Amino acid sequence: MRLVILGGGGFRVPLVHRALVADGRVAELVLHDVDPARLAAIRSVLRGGPRVETTTDLDEALRGADFVFSAIRVGGLAGRAIDEEVAHQHGVLGQETVGAGGIAYGLRTAPVARDIARRVARLAPEAWVINFTNPAGLITEVMAEHLGPRVIGICDSPVGLCRRVAGALGVEDARFDYAGLNHLGWLQGVHRDGEDLLPRLLADAVALGSFEEGRLFGVEWLQALGVIPNEYLHYYYDTRDALGGDRGAYLLRQQQRFYDGEVDWETTRLEREATYMKQDRDTLEGGGYEHVALRLMHAIANNERATLILNVRNGSTLSTLDADAVVEVPCTVDSTGATPLPVSPLPDHAAGLVLSVKAVDRLVMEGTRRSALKAFAVHPLVDSLAAARSLLDTYVRRHPGLAYLS
Ligand code: G6P
Ligand code: MN
Repeated sequence: MRLVILGGGGFRVPLVHRALVADGRVAELVLHDVDPARLAAIRSVLRGGPRVETTTDLDEALRGADFVFSAIRVGGLAGRAIDEEVAHQHGVLGQETVGAGGIAYGLRTAPVARDIARRVARLAPEAWVINFTNPAGLITEVMAEHLGPRVIGICDSPVGLCRRVAGALGVEDARFDYAGLNHLGWLQGVHRDGEDLLPRLLADAVALGSFEEGRLFGVEWLQALGVIPNEYLHYYYDTRDALGGDRGAYLLRQQQRFYDGEVDWETTRLEREATYMKQDRDTLEGGGYEHVALRLMHAIANNERATLILNVRNGSTLSTLDADAVVEVPCTVDSTGATPLPVSPLPDHAAGLVLSVKAVDRLVMEGTRRSALKAFAVHPLVDSLAAARSLLDTYVRRHPGLAYLS
C-alpha cells in the first residue's frame, strides 16, 4: 500500500508516522511538501516503519497512490498568525477555522486544494483522499467537486467529545447522535440498548461538570441547550470572551525552534501538548487525527467495517442542507467508502447557524472579490459591513496567496 502525505514537512507528521509504525500495514510512505528544508527536518526524526520517500514534486508523489492524507497549511503558521492578528485589529473573532480568520484561511486554501483534487483525479483516480486540511468541511467540499465520495474529511474534535461524554456516563460504547458541520456540531443523543442516556447526563450536574465541555460551557447552559455542543461552539456562544488569543503566532515561534535545529522534535511536541493540558483539552495523542485517519484508511482498504464521525456529502441526512453540502456526521465505512447514518434533525438554533456558515463557505469557494466581501459581511461573527470591507482589503494586502482577490 502506497500512502502519500501532502504537507509531509508538517510538525504533526511524526505522530502519523508513529501510528503507522505501530500498525505495520503500510509498505510505502511518500512525504510531499513544497518546502524541502521542512521535509528534511521531519524526515530526520522518523525511525523504522515503512519505506519513506520524500519529494517536492506533487505529480510524482501522487502517481500510484492508494491513499492520500492531505494535511497542508497554505501560508504556514505565519499565515495563521496573520489571520488572527488582522481579525483582532478589527475587533472580531479571528480563530484558525472560525469567523474572519477562518474565512481568510479558507480563501487562501481553496484554490490550492482544488488544484490538488484535479491532479489526484487525473494521476491517481483510484486513490482515496483523507482530508486533514482546515477549514476541513469547506476544503473537503472543494475537493469533492473533483473527487466525489473519494475524498473524506476528518477531525479529532467529535471523537474527543464522544469519548469524554461516554466517560462521564461510565459507558464504553454507544451510538452517538452527532451532527452539524466541521467545528460546528452538536451531540443530541447517546443511545445504548434502545435507551438515550444523554438526558441522564444532562440531569446530573456533577457528571456534567466533570468533563471539558461541561466546564467550558457551564452546567446551566448545557441544561438549557439540551444538547452538547462541540468545543468550537465556544466561539459562537462566548464570542466576547473568545476574542484575542495569538495561538498561531505562539506555535510559529515554538515550532520554528525545531525547524531551525535548536530544539528536538519530542521536546517541542511535549511543550505544545502542555498548552493543551492548560487549556484542559485533549492531548494530540489522545483523540488524535492520526488514529481517526488510520481507522478510516483500514476500513476502506481492508473492508474493516467501522463507524466514524466524518465529513462527507450530506445526501439526505440533514434536511436543512442540499445533497452536495459536506456535513460532519456518523458514517459507516467499508471498502465502498463512507455512508452517512441517519441522525436527528438539528434544533432550530443549530440549523440556523449551520445554514449561515454553509452559505459563507460557499461564498469562499466561489472565490471572487465580490463573493469574498459577502462572506465576511454575512458571517454571523462579523458585525459590520465596514469591518468586512476592511478585513478583505487587509487580508489581501497581507497574504500573497490572496492576490487573486485584488
Ligand atoms: C483541534 C482541531 C483541529 C485544529 C487543532 C488546532 O485538533 O480539531 O482542526 O487544527 O485543534 O490545534 P493547535 O494546537 O494548532 O491550535
Ligand atoms: Mn478539526
